[in-house]
Amino acid sequence: MNEWSIQKLLTWVTEYLTQKGVDSPRLSAELLLSHVLGLKRIELYTQYNKIVVQEQLDRLRDLVKRAGLHEPVVYLVGRTEFYSIEFEVTPDCLIPRPETELLVQRSIEFLRKRTGPQLVCDLCTGCGIIAVAVAKNVPDARVLATDISEPALAAAAKNVEKHKLQERIELRKGDLFEPLVPQLDQFDLIACNPPYVSTAEYEALEKNVKDYEPRIALYAGEDGLDLYRKIVEKVSHFLKPDGSLLLEIGYTQGPAVQGLLEQAGTFAQIRIDKDLQGHDRVVAAQRASG
Ligand SMILES: C[S@@+](CC[C@H](N)C(=O)[O-])C[C@H]1O[C@@H](n2cnc3c(N)ncnc32)[C@H](O)[C@@H]1O
Repeated sequence: MNEWSIQKLLTWVTEYLTQKGVDSPRLSAELLLSHVLGLKRIELYTQYNKIVVQEQLDRLRDLVKRAGLHEPVVYLVGRTEFYSIEFEVTPDCLIPRPETELLVQRSIEFLRKRTGPQLVCDLCTGCGIIAVAVAKNVPDARVLATDISEPALAAAAKNVEKHKLQERIELRKGDLFEPLVPQLDQFDLIACNPPYVSTAEYEALEKNVKDYEPRIALYAGEDGLDLYRKIVEKVSHFLKPDGSLLLEIGYTQGPAVQGLLEQAGTFAQIRIDKDLQGHDRVVAAQRASG
């Protein structure tokens, strides 16, 4: 009988995904196999010679075929890690990107310099990564997270529950600030990773992004700046006098977003931070100086 050990399967799946031009084929093979077998990735190596049963082989074959057609592995396994925290992700949510860890890091740094309870807004929360990562790392923070997509908020709700943060994270549905009340909701920090892809960039997106990730999570008008314009228009109604706005940006958008914030006249200091690749990635706008 033709028996398949974990070792043999890892080699076969890696080779198959390599032939199909899938990114990070070995990692993808490990993620798919550990998902089907219900093992941690490290356990694939501690149980290298284990024989995999037919039912699991059938499930693996189906997932590998879909991955070979460039369906994202994160959607196939339904979860990923961000900021060293595990999140459930559905095809209704953007797949969390490592670049967004900079926005979370800057948010945590800002909040830790302050004393007392902190109220944070995570606009465009998707599956809730920013809200959860901030709340987990800043015990004094309460987070109000909004998104226009009901199914994305359903995934966020699962992640809030998974990390037992229901007491400190509230989810609201609506268009940017629309579900918030200026007289009541005054934030120490507003953090946002909005859609920021332009028309031309959208057309040129890789198949695994364009065909699978939600358009509403990516596309932001002709120049990709639509959401920033809307945020800048309203943000002053929701920020405390010494509050801060942190925005993730596309790497070419720094000067344009800085210009929009300067025109608004609300901010005393505006800074652009670079990610690990040396690209402009986060705009930090501080309301009062100091
Ligand atoms: C780039 S994704 C960010 C998701 C998550 N915060 C992250 O960093 O991975 C943008 C999110 O904005 C939401 N969105 C798009 N337009 C919106 C709007 N007008 N108001 C609120 N949310 C919106 C999308 O549903 C999507 O979840």
